[in-house]
Amino acid sequence: MLANARLYCYIYGIQEKTILTMTDQTAKRDSFGSSFGVLVALAGSAVGLGNLWRFPYLLGQNGGAAFILIYLGFVLLVGLPVMLAEFIIGRRSQASARAAFRKLAPGSRWGITGVLGVICCVLILSFYSVVGGWGAEYLYKAVCFDFTTGDSNTFSNLFSGFSTSVWRPLICHGIFLALTAGIVIAGVKNGIEKFSKVMMPLLFLIVIGIAVRSMTLEGSGPGISYLFKPDWSKVTSQTFLAALGQAFFSLSLGACMVITYASYVKKDANIISLGAQTAAADTVFALIAGCAIMPAVFAFGIAPGEGPGLVFITLPQIFSQMPLGGVVAIFFFLALLLAALTSSISILEVIVAFCIEEFKMKRKAAVAVVFILIWILGVLCSLSMGPLADFKIFGKTIFDLFDFLSANFLMLIGGLLVVIFVGWRLGRKEVYDELTNGGGLKLSPWLLKTIIFLIRFVAPLALIAIAVFQIHE
Ligand code: PHE
Repeated sequence: MLANARLYCYIYGIQEKTILTMTDQTAKRDSFGSSFGVLVALAGSAVGLGNLWRFPYLLGQNGGAAFILIYLGFVLLVGLPVMLAEFIIGRRSQASARAAFRKLAPGSRWGITGVLGVICCVLILSFYSVVGGWGAEYLYKAVCFDFTTGDSNTFSNLFSGFSTSVWRPLICHGIFLALTAGIVIAGVKNGIEKFSKVMMPLLFLIVIGIAVRSMTLEGSGPGISYLFKPDWSKVTSQTFLAALGQAFFSLSLGACMVITYASYVKKDANIISLGAQTAAADTVFALIAGCAIMPAVFAFGIAPGEGPGLVFITLPQIFSQMPLGGVVAIFFFLALLLAALTSSISILEVIVAFCIEEFKMKRKAAVAVVFILIWILGVLCSLSMGPLADFKIFGKTIFDLFDFLSANFLMLIGGLLVVIFVGWRLGRKEVYDELTNGGGLKLSPWLLKTIIFLIRFVAPLALIAIAVFQIHE
């Protein structure tokens, strides 16, 4: 209940005390008051480092336009059905991850899906907070006007010098995690929520501005064709897995995130349009980020397959060549940090709520335990960029392994379980009921049939096909 109250405060910026007293007195489950509140919360969770950091470098490593087309296909055919399935589970049960499955399928083992989601969130947060720490460091550098002069070597050396060192990234990782934990402990106050509401549109505007600058740079032509002209010869089964994993990561799917948020959605909200709007906002944002980065990568002669450092190397370079670039850099990294925080809060909340519910822990104690766990795992991720770079498990550094295990494995399994649950375990009538708000929403029968077809057949088969391909590789 405490977790729900906090989330409610977070969305509405209500003084937490008020709502806690209310929930204590009435013991009534909270819900969102407006669809807009849900949308802001979901978009805050979805838009984050996945769009600004992960998408551009995967695009660079996987051949550009062909990757984008495959990605878009997966968002529509797999991402959207999984999102709607999570919405159905969350809103129907009005309960958090594990409890939701217990409630909808009493006595079954479906609750394991919730546990997998929590494990997935632990892995994600471990490396996410390391990259969030890089964002914090780059904001500091921007404030010191470090990005006003320099060439590609300067910024490439700056990033590798920083990310491979020992202490500084660890301190930044600690700061980022402490900020996340602080917000989850205290609840998010009026100011921060209002601030994010202003910063998210501002982030959109800044990234659009950078995209325009990047696409009009001299020598950006090859970058633009890289984005828009598919080269199918570069596509392998790995490209499909990377695109699918990215769709899940970016839309926050398969990790019980949407289930939890949907449990606060009112019974009269149109969940189909909420899901579609969230997916659309997240995808448009990722595409703009691609347009902001790729043309500049080519114009400055940086290798598109550079990897996780791509954004931290190319953007400072664009800023150094822009009028007022030093100021834009401050705005950009501030916005990046905020976007990362609104996502990391949501990831931490899934784990903390689970600890409170399953182990009957107090919120503060739960946050403290999870903080220590994630900090240690994050230290390993951070060191694997430098001193532990040669320590590999299954041929991957710890950082890459956590990323791979979550986005390319656990989230996909979570997604598969969710669509199988909704498509085959939950009754057809219940699914229709949930999508149409008990028949209250007059939706085209074709739309409903298509959605159910996607949930029952297309999404599970696509997920299974990718898994089989992987095993055969
Ligand atoms: N979607 C977030 C991003 O793009 C990451 C995330 C994953 C958030 C899973 C919540 C759950 O940055």
